Amino acid sequence: MRYEFSNSGDAVVKAVFDTQKVKKGSLRFELQAEKPTLLVGLGDKEAVTSASVREVFFGVPGQLSNYEIKRPVLEGLEEAELVTAAFEGIWAGNYVFTRYKKDELADKRIETLCVPKMDALKEKLNESTILMESADFTRYLVNSRSIDLYPQTLAELAKAELEPFGVEVEVLGKKQAEEAGLKAFLAVSQGSDKEPKVIIAKYNGAGDAPYGALIGKGLTYDSGGYDIKPGEGMFDMFGDMAGAATVLGAVRAAAAAKLEKNVAAVVLACENLIDGSAYKNGDIISSHRGKTIEIDSTDAEGRLTLADALSYTEETMKPSYMVDVATLTGAVVVALGDLAAGAVTNDEGLMKDLLASAEEADELIWQLPAYEAYKEQYKSKYADLKNSGGFAGGAITAGLFLGEFVEDTPWVHLDVAGVTYRHDKAKAPYPMGASGYGVKTLYKLVKNR
Ligand code: BES
Ligand code: MN
Ligand code: ZN
Repeated sequence: MRYEFSNSGDAVVKAVFDTQKVKKGSLRFELQAEKPTLLVGLGDKEAVTSASVREVFFGVPGQLSNYEIKRPVLEGLEEAELVTAAFEGIWAGNYVFTRYKKDELADKRIETLCVPKMDALKEKLNESTILMESADFTRYLVNSRSIDLYPQTLAELAKAELEPFGVEVEVLGKKQAEEAGLKAFLAVSQGSDKEPKVIIAKYNGAGDAPYGALIGKGLTYDSGGYDIKPGEGMFDMFGDMAGAATVLGAVRAAAAAKLEKNVAAVVLACENLIDGSAYKNGDIISSHRGKTIEIDSTDAEGRLTLADALSYTEETMKPSYMVDVATLTGAVVVALGDLAAGAVTNDEGLMKDLLASAEEADELIWQLPAYEAYKEQYKSKYADLKNSGGFAGGAITAGLFLGEFVEDTPWVHLDVAGVTYRHDKAKAPYPMGASGYGVKTLYKLVKNR
């Protein structure tokens, strides 16, 4: 989709604040008007926010597609911020994943949104277009199935998508990962025939300044390993690289927007499968940091790959901050549902910046209480740590576990297991399947830090 400053379109999409006329949150067509007009009920003008506008406008493409309207004119919004929110809502509502099934509405999707001229709108919509295209890239990666999307192809797609924006993408194979001492990561990967890959995507917009590092969980499939998942829990696990897709999307956005910042995405990509050489419950493995880890569950694999990713990034890149994004626990889904990501940090200042960035992005993050005493839960009798803290407080202990592999760099862990994927229904302002959550928040963080 694109935007255009114009008032000549094939239909009108009109924001209405009068609830007598159109109920808040509902959409109503008026076909007898001069041009077909879709009334969009936003409720009390005083109470309208960019989030509420984005959410209601998400439903617009679904309505317009019935009438093959491809060039609607937006009317009734007077602030650039709200027009941008409407644009983003329509963009996401317009999204379809077409890799495996042809788009039945292909000829009916909105192509151009005509908007009125307003101060600062051009700048906002250009930035927004970059963010939405980047989120589409993230969604494409997450929605792609593991038979097509595995470490090698993830690396190839990252290169193809990011290099044109001047991002330098470096890919290391198994041998180099061994040389780098990524032992925990390699233990997880060893039950799969697919070669594990380390993907480092660097955008240099600020010379010699230190990088901000965005680290994404990159399990291109998580069967659970020998601690195998039941079928229904396994189904969605092609999306267990959503963290990786999110950080790659954010770096794409930073580069496309030419931010004067240095930011890198780091992804340790592999599959968690079962064969004769897979790691097992009870194994004791080592890690990049040198700490030993007892495998309490082969299904708590994400924290092993991330432990190495964090310590490797901290040591080799010396970043000014690190944020990891991971579909890490079912526990965070229990705690926060599909609305908010759960966060754990070692640095309240970075946490504050991230929360402020999320607020700007209209995305939800909830900081979890991470008291020292929780750390008892992942003590091991035979190793420095074990990789599960048990059922109770599982999202918190997983986060604290990761913190054991960060020395002194400000760091936030974001558990996106709930917000990142919705199997069979959209939830405004996110489309069905991969939501694209987080790209915007991370971009804002990079921009604001
Ligand atoms: N990838 C899963 C977490 C997950 C669950 C993501 C549901 C998306 C939706 C992760 O690797 C996992 O299996 N975690 C275990 C940890 C447990 C064994 C300590 C879990 O949450 O059950
Ligand atoms: Mn798992
Ligand atoms: Zn996993």
